[in-house]
Amino acid sequence: MRRAKISVIGAGNVGATCAHWAASKELGDVVLLDIPDKEGVAQGKALDLFCCAPMERFDANVHGTADYADTANSDVVIVTAGLPRKPGMSRDDLIGTNVKIVRSVAEQVATHSPDAIMILVSNPLDAMVYTAWKASGFPTNQIVGQAGCLDVARYRAFLAMKLGCSVEDISALLLGGHGDDMVPLPRYTSVHGIPIQQLLPEAEITECVERAKVGGGEIVKLMGTSAYYAPASGSVQMAEAIIKDKKRILPCAAYCDSEYGVGGYFVGVPCILGSGGVEKVIEIDLDATERPLMDESISHVKDLVATVKEMFPDLA
Ligand code: NAI
Ligand code: 2OP
Repeated sequence: MRRAKISVIGAGNVGATCAHWAASKELGDVVLLDIPDKEGVAQGKALDLFCCAPMERFDANVHGTADYADTANSDVVIVTAGLPRKPGMSRDDLIGTNVKIVRSVAEQVATHSPDAIMILVSNPLDAMVYTAWKASGFPTNQIVGQAGCLDVARYRAFLAMKLGCSVEDISALLLGGHGDDMVPLPRYTSVHGIPIQQLLPEAEITECVERAKVGGGEIVKLMGTSAYYAPASGSVQMAEAIIKDKKRILPCAAYCDSEYGVGGYFVGVPCILGSGGVEKVIEIDLDATERPLMDESISHVKDLVATVKEMFPDLA
């Protein structure tokens, strides 16, 4: 049986960590690609990682390169190429530079792996998903953004810290864009089936919601660059759902038209991820408190896309 192939574009902090999780989970052979100036870095990290295989006991080739021909016919391509945030920057500040990078990456992916499912990670995420869609010409099911898996994992981690219980038992949902106006949903949060409101006072739930919203910024302040373990874990969780056709329900940036009244943008929503990529967007009921928050988040995504179109009219 042919092994699956996962290409990771950008061999920096998030990309190398994606390669690490993907290889150690034996999801398939991994190709780690960076720009020609950093080909040695991509090759070095790939070799270093492959030398873990005898100890960690995984069978997966790991190859570093700057040549897209090596990524040919990937099943999944995870795009992490681009600048990360520095302290004081918002994700949106990265837009000009990262659109150019992601556009060129998406064109290459479309040429070499026309059937791949492309998982976008580069920021500002909601604008990069749009950019990759336009630049690749892929159908919308083949394009998906990683944000919700990370954001909801942070929310779950903070709740588990408060409750002193296992993170595994916390089930939660989150909607909207990957910005500080993301929409965590306490009404859809439970601990082994018990509604969170029965276990924590409202104020403490709100504290976790607010901390999740600025969770990326908290780490940027601490480290001087953005997070990478959890972002990579979220990306590989999505890759695994696709490669193993698990049909997992995960919060992802997926194309929504009539869904949630979005009107043709990629927004964070629960979807079924399987070998067909985004196989279905799941619509849930939103109450009078949640709907305006979702609308605000959608409007921020639309503003970001409008900025991309203004700066790069060929992507309109
Ligand atoms: P990094 O600076 O460690 O790595 C980025 C890599 O991309 C560098 O090695 C760079 O050489 C490479 N690169 C630049 N242009 C390229 C091109 N045209 N082709 C191939 N590779 C290219 O940055 P890090 O921390 O890995 O973050 C990567 C991106 O992911 C950033 O935009 C960051 O904001 C974003 N991010 C997104 C998250 C999310 O949840 N969606 C979470 C964390 C980071
Ligand atoms: C994060 O949320 C910066 O998007 C990145 O960690």
